[in-house]
Amino acid sequence: MRLPTFQSFFRSKIDLPLVDEEQLISEAVTLDVEAEHHRTLLSLRRRLADTFTPTRPLPGPRVELFSNDNRAAFIGREVECLRITRALLEDQSHVVIFGERGRGKTSLANLVAAQVQEASFDVARYVCSTTSNFDAVMRGLFHDMPRWLTGLSRTGYDTGLASLLPSRPLQPSDLPLIFERLSSKVILLVDEFDRVADEDTRTAVADTIKQFSDLGMPVLFMIIGVSDSPEALLGRHPSIQRCVTRVALPLLKPAHVRKIVERGAAQSGLNFSASARTCIAELARGVPYMAQLLSLRAGQAALDNGRTTILGSDLLAAIEAAAIEADPRVLALYDLATNTECDAAALSVLRAAAAGSQDELGRFQVVSNGRFAQVAGLQVDGTAWQRVLNVGAIRHVRGEGPDLFTFTEAMLMQLVLLRTVLLSQAVVHPVSVNSAPALLTRP
Ligand SMILES: Nc1ncnc2c1ncn2[C@@H]1O[C@H](COP(=O)(O)OP(=O)(O)OP(=O)(O)O)[C@@H](O)[C@H]1O
Ligand SMILES: [Mg+2]
Repeated sequence: MRLPTFQSFFRSKIDLPLVDEEQLISEAVTLDVEAEHHRTLLSLRRRLADTFTPTRPLPGPRVELFSNDNRAAFIGREVECLRITRALLEDQSHVVIFGERGRGKTSLANLVAAQVQEASFDVARYVCSTTSNFDAVMRGLFHDMPRWLTGLSRTGYDTGLASLLPSRPLQPSDLPLIFERLSSKVILLVDEFDRVADEDTRTAVADTIKQFSDLGMPVLFMIIGVSDSPEALLGRHPSIQRCVTRVALPLLKPAHVRKIVERGAAQSGLNFSASARTCIAELARGVPYMAQLLSLRAGQAALDNGRTTILGSDLLAAIEAAAIEADPRVLALYDLATNTECDAAALSVLRAAAAGSQDELGRFQVVSNGRFAQVAGLQVDGTAWQRVLNVGAIRHVRGEGPDLFTFTEAMLMQLVLLRTVLLSQAVVHPVSVNSAPALLTRP
């Protein structure tokens, strides 16, 4: 408290106070308290933003699997993590991790990378873009291998990494010769592989996997991408079936999503009640990205209002923010499918699909007899179902029988749920002429 200094300042400098001294003291106290409050809020904001990180994957070293420690940010995925580390460390199998956007593929890969590094594997990473070809992927991986440079002298070949690579574009047949000169066991982590547009690049990666396996080289690929099948990522190569472990990333269970919020609340010093956690879990529907986004925005809304306890109004502010922040492609698809929320029957179809019963990969059954359709266990108008299907908001899941469907864009499911809450709020609390319709405006 700066109060004594403030008092003595006035006593020493001014004989007669120009204003009521009592009032000055009380103002000083108020200012002090306000400043302290402001500092606390600022530090809580920073902690909150460090805790809930929807814009970035969890980094490996921060993750503490199987731990009850509150700092552990990574929730669930024990089964997948064990499968992948066993495949890499024990079976010497390459791994493909696939699943919808925002499910935690990169975070899981980071966790695995941290674990295999402890088992003295080196890890090199490359994140693909639409223009990545085989040469770019492999050179990108080489450039992420600084430790290997020092390992090269073992073979008497220490003139540098660049000298190992031919100046012409790399081909699968070049790689065994290059890798056999390197001294350590290596994981080649290739993320966002779905973005590679060139079919030949996928085939070249599959050929390289086959070569490494046949030669028993300690070089293993961990390929990650948005897809609902490994074949869609790597292509159909019967020759690599046996040497690749396929790991689908399911939705998180609601209890895990609630735990993400609970641990984050403890870590950030905010109070998310049980009903706030349940509300976030209902809306996230197993997608950790959405759980993190809603928690962050709800926390920020509470702190904006000088509170550390999350209220219903904070959740609504978070829902509104998340709906506005949705990917423009998802927003456009939603507007197209619902005729900008004017097609009530199409909205019902989307809501049935988003809120009805789904399997752990977010897929649902649809049985249609023309007039009516059973979507995810809920009856909707059959022609509206066709309209939603025709605009491409929902698609059939390839190779899984005639009845299995999923949202074309993973986050469309969440947008439907978020907009449903916002629209129901508009009905419960219609906009008064004087109040700002903050919750009700569309972006
Ligand atoms: N198991 C988990 N526990 C808690 N949070 C998680 C978990 N997995 C992922 N997240 C969070 O979810 C968000 C998305 O994770 P991540 O980027 O790893 O997903 P992704 O599947 O790689 O997404 P994309 O398909 O967009 O690349 C991040 O904010 C991350 O912190
Ligand atoms: Mg990712």
